[in-house]
Amino acid sequence: MLRVCVCVSGGGTNLQAIMDAIDAGRITNAQIVRVISNNKLAFALERAKGKGIDAVAVSPKDYADRELFNEAFLQCVDEAAPDLIVLAGFLVVLPPMMIQKYDGRIINIHPALIPSFCGKGYYGLRVHEAVLERGVKITGATVHFVDEGTDTGPIILQKAVEVLPDDTPKVLQQRVMEQAEWVILPQAINMIANGQIG
Ligand code: GAR
Repeated sequence: MLRVCVCVSGGGTNLQAIMDAIDAGRITNAQIVRVISNNKLAFALERAKGKGIDAVAVSPKDYADRELFNEAFLQCVDEAAPDLIVLAGFLVVLPPMMIQKYDGRIINIHPALIPSFCGKGYYGLRVHEAVLERGVKITGATVHFVDEGTDTGPIILQKAVEVLPDDTPKVLQQRVMEQAEWVILPQAINMIANGQIG
């Protein structure tokens, strides 16, 4: 059984997609052992608790500086003894020590087709705003391994999604989630859990 730790910051619809995929047998050989949020109010924590999953908040606001937060966060991850760490809408820069320690065992979902609309400043709704501003006709989502850069690690899966003429950032975000993120993130976890990659 692959021990999965999921890190979240907000609504947790990607976390929900992972939990649903486990229940439906679309992810096998994996269990979520802990959900961690930097935001105490993240609805994602409620989703996890509702499923009886250990859910913990580690907020930078509770620590005097970044260093102390990083230590506490890494300790919280270590306690779960994960085989895989999934960043499912986690909007915090990971401590470099953690990236080294869990090299090749951290994956992230990004709401665009990397290398487009990624890197510093491209997260959440901002990605979709930039997509609409540029006027591209195709966008999508990417699951990739996390390395020291921002959205620079090896790509695992991508799925394209059409941009439609009347899209607002929110409408587009919803379509990218439904058609791409909630599909490829569980798929990537299942592939890793069953030895098909990494
Ligand atoms: C998702 O769209 C995810 O791809 C994005 O945040 C959203 C979280 O939604 N992540 C990033 O932008 C990371 N750079 P959720 O909490 O409902 O899963």
